[in-house]
Amino acid sequence: MTATVSPVSRMSVPGLPLPDLYARVSRHVPAIEWPALAPDIEAILRLKRERNAVILAHNYQAPEIFHTVADIVGDSLALAREAVTVEAQVIVLAGVHFMAETAKLLNPGKTVLIPDMGAGCSLADSITAADVRGLRAKYPGVPIVTYVNTSAAVKAESDLCCTSGNAVAVVKSLNAPRVLMIPDEFLAQNVQAEIPEIEILTWAGHCEVHERFTPGDIRDVRDSYPGVTVIAHPECPPDVVAESDFSGSTAMMMDFVLQKRPSQVVLVTECSMADNIAAANPDIEFIKPCNMCPHMKRMSLKNIRRALETMTHEVTVDPALADRARAAVERMLLVR
Ligand code: 13P
Ligand code: SF4
Repeated sequence: MTATVSPVSRMSVPGLPLPDLYARVSRHVPAIEWPALAPDIEAILRLKRERNAVILAHNYQAPEIFHTVADIVGDSLALAREAVTVEAQVIVLAGVHFMAETAKLLNPGKTVLIPDMGAGCSLADSITAADVRGLRAKYPGVPIVTYVNTSAAVKAESDLCCTSGNAVAVVKSLNAPRVLMIPDEFLAQNVQAEIPEIEILTWAGHCEVHERFTPGDIRDVRDSYPGVTVIAHPECPPDVVAESDFSGSTAMMMDFVLQKRPSQVVLVTECSMADNIAAANPDIEFIKPCNMCPHMKRMSLKNIRRALETMTHEVTVDPALADRARAAVERMLLVR
């Protein structure tokens, strides 16, 4: 049996021989495809040693990245927390741009690389720094909590950040009667349902992956699989979360599955989540639907290898806004 996936874990794969790495992904990578992947994996493991680099991978990365070359895996919050503890001089972020930018903010002296600069996020694209200044002018005195799925420029205009893993705690920590929570409208509405005593104002940004799920999808799956456990990411519309048994960040979803071990489960989120847990837990059956994030899927073994070979693409943050953006992230990390 392969190693158990932990929601936030240091994978320490470099010492593993290739056949053991294949065992980790054999449920998702056909044996006939392995010879095409193995040279890139071998090269990445060697390059990490030569460059003094680590790979931080989000839970949505494909199994052949998540289970073979990643050193640290987790949700956005875990990747931000772990980024601070990294000793290596180079961080390769297998995820999307805002995650790499956050790692750079927290590690200004390190080199942070992203294998594809085009790995964006519909939420990050939904709001600009000027929009946040406009909200500040319209709602004077109302604290602004910004989802980490935003640019550093937007973070710099905010009071503090949150992720889906700590949003309720962050909003409560402000002790304010009214809070602006931007830019994810659905996350804000889902948090509002948990803390009705605080008025939450929001913005009309959506995740292009999670906004596509409907309550009908959940009802259909429950009709087809009576007794199935349904777990939804809080970027889903509130009526989808209301139909689910549990909602939480990607790490919380993973944690829930590993602790409760339902025999059949649907993860209402990006498809690789289920694949990554299934790879190490053959006793749990994962039912569709799921949706692919085109941005997360820009990462591949080939471009991770290229990133380490050529030391590209380096992620930098405008010094004029880095201190303010970093402060918003660091304030979030202080909330427990
Ligand atoms: P998590 O912080 O829950 O991992 O979510 C990040 C994300 O982009 C979800 O779509
Ligand atoms: Fe952004 Fe949604 Fe993709 Fe996450 S899944 S990176 S929120 S577009």
